[in-house]
Amino acid sequence: MTVQPIIIQGGMGVGVSSWRLARAVSQAGQLGVVSGTALDLLLARRLQSGDPGGLMAEAAARFPFPAIVERVWKRYFIEGGKSAAKKFLGVPMHALKPSRDLLDLTVLANFVEVSLAKHGHPGLVGINLLEKIQLPTIPSLFGAMLAGVDYVLMGAGIPRAVPGILDQLALGQAARLKVDVHGAMATEEYFTEFNTEDYLQSPAQQLERPKFLAIVSSATLAIALARKSSGRVDGFVVEGWTAGGHNAPPRGAMQIDAAGEPIYGERDLADLEKIASLGLPYWLAGSFGDQGKIAEAQALGAVGIQVGTAFAFCEESGIDPALKEKVLDGSRRGVLRVFTDPVASPTGFPFKIIQGGPDTTIPVCGEGRTRICDLGYLRHLFRKPDGNVGYRCPSEPVGDYLRKGGLEEETVGRQCVCNGLMSTLGLGQLVADGSAEKPLLTGGDDAVAVARFLKPGSTSYHAQDVIDRLLS
Ligand SMILES: Cc1cc2nc3c(=O)[nH]c(=O)nc-3n(C[C@H](O)[C@H](O)[C@H](O)COP(=O)(O)O)c2cc1C
Repeated sequence: MTVQPIIIQGGMGVGVSSWRLARAVSQAGQLGVVSGTALDLLLARRLQSGDPGGLMAEAAARFPFPAIVERVWKRYFIEGGKSAAKKFLGVPMHALKPSRDLLDLTVLANFVEVSLAKHGHPGLVGINLLEKIQLPTIPSLFGAMLAGVDYVLMGAGIPRAVPGILDQLALGQAARLKVDVHGAMATEEYFTEFNTEDYLQSPAQQLERPKFLAIVSSATLAIALARKSSGRVDGFVVEGWTAGGHNAPPRGAMQIDAAGEPIYGERDLADLEKIASLGLPYWLAGSFGDQGKIAEAQALGAVGIQVGTAFAFCEESGIDPALKEKVLDGSRRGVLRVFTDPVASPTGFPFKIIQGGPDTTIPVCGEGRTRICDLGYLRHLFRKPDGNVGYRCPSEPVGDYLRKGGLEEETVGRQCVCNGLMSTLGLGQLVADGSAEKPLLTGGDDAVAVARFLKPGSTSYHAQDVIDRLLS
C-alpha cells in the first residue's frame, strides 16, 4: 500500500510554485508541486536573464538529449543577462502544430523544473497543469515524466483524456488530445498530437507513469472523471471557492453581489459523501492552511489538505520578494482585500485578485494598460468560416478580437493574465514607454491573514514554517 502525503503544496502558476518551493516541501516529507503553466516562457526568460547561479544549466545537464539543450541555449541564453532596457525575446505561441523550437523549449522546461525540484532528496514531486491550456499539455507531461515526476495534478476543466495520455507516454506511444474549438461542427474534431519517436528520432523509452489527481469542485465532476476517464484517476483535490487562483463558477446562472463578486452558497459545496463513495483518496483545498485543518479534513474523510496561499508568500515561492513584502505588510496591518473578479480572466472562470487597501502600494494591473497579446497561453481556438482553426483572446486588442468574430461583451473587464503573472515573478515584459507590465497578484481569501506565519520581529517566513504550523 502506498503512503499518501498529508499535505499537498498547491501548484500555483505561473512560477509561484517554483522548483525551489516544491523542493522545500518535498524535502519536508510532503508533496511539493511545481506549476507547469508557461514553463517554456519562464525558462526562456530565465535564460535571457543569464541563468543566475547556473541552476537551469545544472538541470539541463541531466537532460538525456543534449542536442535539444544546445538548440534552446543557442536561441535564448544571454551570458550575464540581457540589458534592463531591452525587451525579452518572444517565444512562439502554442498552436495545433507547434514548431520544433517550441517543442524543444516546452519539453526541456518541464524537465528542468521537475528535475530541480526532485534533486538531492528522495521526496515526492508533482506537477500542476490547467486543463484549459490544452496545446502544451502533452509535451509538458513528457518533459515532466522524463524527469520522473511522481504526480500530475490538473484542474480548471474536465481532464478526462489525460490519464490515458499518461499511460501512452509511459509506454512510449504516440498520444493525442482532443482540443476545444469554438463553433466546430458536430462532425468535426480537432487534435493536438505528440509522437515521442518522431520527435526524438529515436526509439522511445518506457517511463514511470505518475499518479493522476484531478482537481474538482463538485461530486458530479469527480464521479464523471472516476467513471469516464481514458485511464486511471488516482484521487481528487476538492477545491472550494475561497482558494487562490481561478475558481469554479457558482452553480446555475452567475449572480453578482453589490461589491461585484460572484455569490457562492450551500449548493457550491462539494458533496463529500458522494466523493468518498468512489473509494479514491481525496484532499481538501481552499482556506485549509492553518492549525487544526488537517484534522478537520480527515474528519471529513480526506487524506489531508492542499494548501496554496500560505505557501505563495513564503521565501521559497517564485513571487517577486518586493511584492511578497507588500502583501505581508498589508496583511499585518489588516488592509489587504481579496476580490473575486468574475471577468478579469479570459478563461471565463472567476479569478481572485489581491488588492491593497488605501495605504498599500500593491500595483493594480489593468489600469491604463494598452492591450497587446504577445504570449497567448489563454487564447481560445475557434473555427474560421473556411473550417481552419483561428486563435483569439478576449483580453487582446478589442478590434482584433472582433475581427476574428468574437463578441464585444466578451472583452469587457478582461485583464492580461499571461503578462500580469509573469510580472508577478519580476520577469515582466517591457512595454512601449519602457516600463514593465504590471503584476497581477492572485491569492485566496486566506491571504488577508498570511502574516500569521511571521515570527515576532521577522519580515519573512519559510515553507517549513507553514508545514510546522499545519502539522502542529
Ligand atoms: C498564487 C496562486 C496561484 C494559483 N495557481 C493555480 C494554478 O495555476 N493551477 C491550479 O490548479 N491551482 C492554482 N492555485 C490554487 C492552489 O493550487 C490551491 O489549490 C489553493 O491555493 C488552495 O487554497 P488556499 O489558497 O486557500 O490555500 C493557485 C493559488 C494561488 C494562491
